[in-house]
Amino acid sequence: MISLPLSQRRRLSKTRSTSHLAQASEGNRAIVARDINMVFGEGAQQFQALYNIDLEVARGDIQLLMGPSGSGKTTLLSILGGILHPTSGEVQLLGQTVTNLSRKQLSAFRLHSIGFIFQGFNLFPALTAAENIELALKLKGVKKRPAHWEAMMLLDQVGLGDRAHHLPKDLSGGQKQRVAIARALAGNPALIMADEPTAALDSHSGHAVIDLLRTLAKDKGCTVLMVTHDPRIIDIADHVTYLEDGRLQAHPTLA
Ligand SMILES: Nc1ncnc2c1ncn2[C@@H]1O[C@H](COP(=O)(O)OP(=O)(O)OP(=O)(O)O)[C@@H](O)[C@H]1O
Ligand SMILES: [Mg+2]
Repeated sequence: MISLPLSQRRRLSKTRSTSHLAQASEGNRAIVARDINMVFGEGAQQFQALYNIDLEVARGDIQLLMGPSGSGKTTLLSILGGILHPTSGEVQLLGQTVTNLSRKQLSAFRLHSIGFIFQGFNLFPALTAAENIELALKLKGVKKRPAHWEAMMLLDQVGLGDRAHHLPKDLSGGQKQRVAIARALAGNPALIMADEPTAALDSHSGHAVIDLLRTLAKDKGCTVLMVTHDPRIIDIADHVTYLEDGRLQAHPTLA
């Protein structure tokens, strides 16, 4: 059962009239998932986490993935981001069928096309905010000096220009999350995938982070797929998809 404030129910009523397949035209789809199934483990330990998932996300959209704990959100995000291989089904990202790629091709595709924001930030503790971003850029083949400039510019954009030389331990949760967002945006990836980016944040920093993500993503024309438990974020989304027990829900139950 999902309980939402009235304003968000109104907003949701706009989005839930569409099917799981967002109305994206052929060339305008950033993410296409076809009949995804995911089974973990073997024999008696087998557990099916996802059932027959079909999903499309249009380029430039912000798409939320919501649902109760254990419903399969992280599993689906990981499959759509090419981190996990599905048991069956096909994923296309930016017109490329990634479920066919070799491990090496896939990691190159991920590196250049997807910015991930993980719940735990995943910053290197021994590197400053700027160095964390520079490292991401160097992995993408950007040389030292331009990597430094871009890192500084991104930190400025997320309002952390004056914290560039701080280590993660000297930053607040919201600041660390903004560094993680800046790092995800480094190199202008076409896709941003975020797993509960506001989970560890208080409401004010949570909204600031989401606002920032939306502004930066829309300015840069990124497609954003975001897992969240936070119903307040619905207002910024173009589409909301609900998962329950590994299945997409056509009409979420509203209390
Ligand atoms: N590697 C794994 N092996 C076995 N089962 C797994 C594995 N990863 C996830 N699962 C199971 O798959 C189901 C979905 O997990 P998932 O992490 O995708 O849920 P979630 O919706 O992200 O939950 P939460 O909101 O708590 O993060 C859960 O029942 C989980 O225990
Ligand atoms: Mg999860």
